[in-house]
Amino acid sequence: MELPNLSLARKRINKESKVINYQLDDKYQDLGKNKKYFIKTYGCQMNEHDSENIKGLLDSISYTETDNMEDADLIILNTCSIRENAHNKAFGMLGRIKHIKEKKKDLIVALCGCMAQEEVVVNEILTKHHHVNFIFGTHNLYDLPRLIYENTKKTNVCVYSKEGDIIENLPVKRVNDYKAYVNIIYGCDKFCTYCIVPYTRGRQRSREMSDIIDEVNDLVKNGYKEVTLLGQNVNAYGKDLPYGYDLADLLEAVSKTNIPRIRFITSHPWDFTDRMIDVIKQHDNIMPSIHLPIQSGSNKILKLMGRRYTKEDYKTLFDKLRNIKGMTITTDIIVGFPGETEEDFKETLDMVNYCKYDGAYTFIFSPRVGTPAAKLKDDVKLEEKEERLYRLNELINNYSLDSNKKMLDKEVSVLTEGYSNKEGMLYGYTENNKLVNFKGESNLIGKIVNVRITSAKSFSLDGELVE
Ligand code: SAH
Ligand code: SF4
Ligand code: F3S
Repeated sequence: MELPNLSLARKRINKESKVINYQLDDKYQDLGKNKKYFIKTYGCQMNEHDSENIKGLLDSISYTETDNMEDADLIILNTCSIRENAHNKAFGMLGRIKHIKEKKKDLIVALCGCMAQEEVVVNEILTKHHHVNFIFGTHNLYDLPRLIYENTKKTNVCVYSKEGDIIENLPVKRVNDYKAYVNIIYGCDKFCTYCIVPYTRGRQRSREMSDIIDEVNDLVKNGYKEVTLLGQNVNAYGKDLPYGYDLADLLEAVSKTNIPRIRFITSHPWDFTDRMIDVIKQHDNIMPSIHLPIQSGSNKILKLMGRRYTKEDYKTLFDKLRNIKGMTITTDIIVGFPGETEEDFKETLDMVNYCKYDGAYTFIFSPRVGTPAAKLKDDVKLEEKEERLYRLNELINNYSLDSNKKMLDKEVSVLTEGYSNKEGMLYGYTENNKLVNFKGESNLIGKIVNVRITSAKSFSLDGELVE
C-alpha cells in the first residue's frame, strides 16, 4: 500500500530523472488471455495518451479491448482532477460499475489518473467504494501488469507522491492511424495558484531529444502525417536537462524528420522566446496554430493566479504570434476567480476584444483541495459567475464565427481523419486546426487533400474537395 500525499508532492528534488527502459516480466504475458478490458478516459490529451499506453500494456499481456463496459473483465477509469465536475463524473461512473460488479464478482475495477494522486479521493474510495480492486497513480502506469497479477479483494493503493524517472518504450496502442501524441515533457513547475496539475503530475521532467526524435521517425515510417508534442507547458521543454537545448531546438529537429504536420500543446506565455517564434515561422511543417492560455485580462487577478505575466506582456507576445502568416490563436479563460470584480471581468472581455481569439475554452473557477486559491475567500456568487461565463461565451463565439468566415472561398489543405457525423461526408482539420466537413470517398482517409471552404459556422466549416 502506498498512499498519495499532497504535501509530499509539493516537495521537489532538483535532480535529473533517470531514463529507464520498460521491459515486461514474462510471468505476466498471459494474464489477460480470453479476457476483455474497458477503459474510460477523462481529462486532457495527457490522459488520452496515457490511456494509449495503458491499452498497449494490456495488449502486451493478452487482454483484448471492448467498448461495452458490461462485457469487460477489467474496467479502468483514467480520471481527471482539474475541476469539480470531472471529479463528480468519475464518482458517478464508480456508482454504475458497482451495480455491474454485484452481478459479476470476478470483475476487476481499477482507478488511475490525476484523481488517484489526491488524498481526499483515495480516502473516499477506501471508505465508501470497496468494489475498487486497485488504484495506481500517474507516475507508475507501468505497474499495471503487476497490480493485475497481485490482485486481491481488498483495495490496493499504489500511488507515488514523488515523481520518479522517465520510462521509455512503454507499449502503446494509438487510437488514430494518422495523428499521434508524443510526450515531450511531464509534470509542471508553474504552480498557478488554482491548479492541481503540479501536484498530480509532479515536477517538470523533459524527455531526451534523441528519444523524442526516434519516436517521431518511427511514426513517419509507419505512415503518420501529424504529431502533437505534448506537455502541460511545452515551452519549458529542456529547462530541466543538462544539455542546453529548448523547444526551439526540438521543433527544428522534429521539423527535419519531415513529418508533414507538427503541433504542440500547451504553451505558457512565460516561456515563449523570440527564437521559438522564428523557428515556427521558418518551417512549413510546424502548423500555424497556437493555444496560448490567458486565464484573465486583469493584472490583479493574474497576480493572484500566480501566472507570472501582465496583460501588457501577454499582448506583446500575442502580437508577435499573430504576425505569423495564417496563424490562429486559441486560449483558456477562468471566470469567477476569488476577488474577481465586475471591473476585473470587463478587463478580460477587453482582452478578448483585443485578441479576437479564434476559439477558447472557458471555465468557472473550481476550488481544488490543496491549492492556494482554494483557501482564498470566494466572494463571487455562483449566479454572478454563471452570468459572466455566459457573456464571455457569447463574445468568444462571435469571434470564432468571424474567424471561420475569414476562411470562406479559400483553398486549404486538410488531413482527412474519417467519416463525419453527416451522411456521406468526411472530416478533417486544416493547418490552422479548423474542423472541415466535405464530401469524399473513403480512400481519402489518412491523406492530406485540398478543400475549398463553402460555408462557415461557429465551430466548423463545410467545404468541397478540389480535385
Ligand atoms: N497546462 C495548461 C493548462 C492545463 S489545465 C496551461 O497552463 O495552460 C486546462 C485549463 O483548465 C487551464 O488553462 C485553466 O483555464 C483551467 N483550469 C485549471 N484549473 C482550474 C480550476 N481550478 N478551476 C477552473 N478552471 C481551471
Ligand atoms: Fe496548471 Fe499553470 Fe501548470 Fe498549466 S502552467 S498545468 S495552469 S500550474
Ligand atoms: Fe485533468 Fe490531469 Fe489533465 S487533472 S486536465 S487529466 S493533467
